[in-house]
Parts: sequence; C-alpha cells; structure tokens
Amino acid sequence: MEQVVERILVSEADLKAKVKELGESISTDYAGKDLLVVGILKGALVFMADLIRSIRIPIQIDFMAVSSYGQGTRSSGAVRILKDLDRAIEEKHILIVEDIVDTGLTLNYLLDNLKSRGAASVKVCTILDKPSRRKIPITPDYNGFVIPDEFVIGYGLDYAEDYRHLPYVAVLKPEVYSK
Ligand code: XMP
Ligand code: MG
Repeated sequence: MEQVVERILVSEADLKAKVKELGESISTDYAGKDLLVVGILKGALVFMADLIRSIRIPIQIDFMAVSSYGQGTRSSGAVRILKDLDRAIEEKHILIVEDIVDTGLTLNYLLDNLKSRGAASVKVCTILDKPSRRKIPITPDYNGFVIPDEFVIGYGLDYAEDYRHLPYVAVLKPEVYSK
C-alpha cells in the first residue's frame, strides 16, 4: 500500500476507540426507543459493522445504496437510489450511518427522503467529517473525526472501488488520481 498511501490519517486503534465511544452515546440516547440503523452502502459497511457491535440496546439494521460519486474524486451533485430500504419506517427512529460528510449533498437528500416516509426521527452518524467542503449546512449528530480537505481511502472508503478493506483511514497520494 506504500505506493498509494501518502500518510495514515486515522489509525486502527483510534478508530476502534472512537467507535466504542459513539456506540456508548447512541446506546444512552436511544435507550427505550425503536431504533433502525441504516447503513449507506458501500462506504459505511466497515464502520457500520463495528458500530452496531458497540451499541448496547436492541436495534434493527437496514441498508440503502446511493450514488453521488462516479469513478473519480469529485461529487457530481446528483443522488440516485440504487438500493432502497427493505421495509417501511413509519414511527421508527432512524440513524443514518455514513462513511463521510463532504459537500453534504448525499445526506441532505437522504434526510429529506427518510423524513418524508414518516420516521419518528432521522439522525446522522458519520466516522469522518470534511466540513471545509460543505455546500449544504449539515452537521452530523454523531461524528468520529474532522478531517482536512484531502481525498481519503480505507475503512470502507474507496478510490475507484479500490482500498475499502484497509483497516485505517489514509490520504491517497495525489499522483494516483491526477494521473
Ligand atoms: P457528499 O459530498 O454528498 O459526499 O457529502 C458523500 C459521499 O462522498 C464520498 N466521498 C469520499 N469518498 N474519499 C472517498 O473514498 C473521500 O475523501 C470522500 N469524500 C467524499 C463518500 O462516498 C461519501 O459517502
Ligand atoms: Mg465512494
């Protein structure tokens, strides 16, 4: 991975500790509530798998897949549902789990979409936040790490579908995508 990794931004140990903290907050905040945790594929897969195992209250899970990025590193702005939830969500408390908030376009769309289906509440949990790139003022209710404006890979995040399996978050060498 030395060929593509510029530097490690968030280590495996730091991710683990933060996910435990997030799970504890969520467990406290949603105690006694009917919580559905919705992972946004594919980027949230790794974070979601770790996060749900740190939640200490009964929950259910579901997934959506949306597209906002193509093969490159720039957001197109267009959001399309590629896979929808399996069930209706009326009266349920929804926690959207995302890998990263960048421009906020994806989450803005998802928040409106899920609220319009009659959910009791819709909140957002992300492992990474890149606030400097925001186009729509959205703040995640739960966030792991605020990161600078650099393209990152690992812990679910890809470059052209590669590197999602890396157990840490790393900055991709600019020469990889400027080629
Ligand atoms: P928006 O701009 O809608 O973006 O907030 C959210 C989605 O964009 C992708 N994204 C990234 N993916 N490295 C990635 O691998 C990055 O640095 C990055 N920044 C944004 C990601 O899929 C996220 O769900
Ligand atoms: Mg992606």
